[in-house]
Amino acid sequence: MSEIKELEQYAMEHGVPIIQDEGLELLKQKIIEYDCHSFLEIGTAIGRTALVIANLVDPMRVVTIERDPQMIEQARSHFQDHANIQLIEGDALEVPLPKGPFDCIFIDAAKAQYIRFFTKFCPLLSENGIIVSDNMNFHGLVDHPELTHNRNTKALVRKIRGYREFLMALSDYETKLYDQGDGIAITKRKKGKS
Ligand SMILES: C[S@@+](CC[C@H](N)C(=O)[O-])C[C@H]1O[C@@H](n2cnc3c(N)ncnc32)[C@H](O)[C@@H]1O
Repeated sequence: MSEIKELEQYAMEHGVPIIQDEGLELLKQKIIEYDCHSFLEIGTAIGRTALVIANLVDPMRVVTIERDPQMIEQARSHFQDHANIQLIEGDALEVPLPKGPFDCIFIDAAKAQYIRFFTKFCPLLSENGIIVSDNMNFHGLVDHPELTHNRNTKALVRKIRGYREFLMALSDYETKLYDQGDGIAITKRKKGKS
């Protein structure tokens, strides 16, 4: 079994949240379409997306940030033979900014913090780069919040809806929402904005 298939199986068996296959396919398509050669990921988990992207095009520089010690330990072991992947350990909202720019910034960490992640890392986006945000539909609940009665889930769904509204209201960026996987937002600078 390939290294990546093994990671996917491990994630499934151990309940490690990773981007859904359809969402990953869209991310790969966009990386190729926008000719991305550098990738910043917020939220590494065990490193599945980082490994896929690191092997997608050549050259590719991957920087990925993770705060959970157990995830860090696993991701680090998976990145051993991949010199083009750098793992930054710590809370993405607290670590110093890595050296940019990045052609693609992928936001896939704590859902309640997406506005803060975007605000912190968007200055690192290259001129024609894209910011990709996962879980924009959150299992269909963002468009149908009445389907959950759990207070914590309702609060999270409100945060994600707030992030979608934040993206749509940005005057310097344009965002398109895709239904693939758990819902993906692709954000890029409007022409003439830098
Ligand atoms: C959905 S998983 C990431 C999956 C990964 N991007 C993939 O597609 O394989 C989210 C990860 O973000 C991490 N995380 C959450 N908030 C974070 C933060 N503020 N800083 C760094 N990592 C964070 C969690 O520990 C978790 O491992």
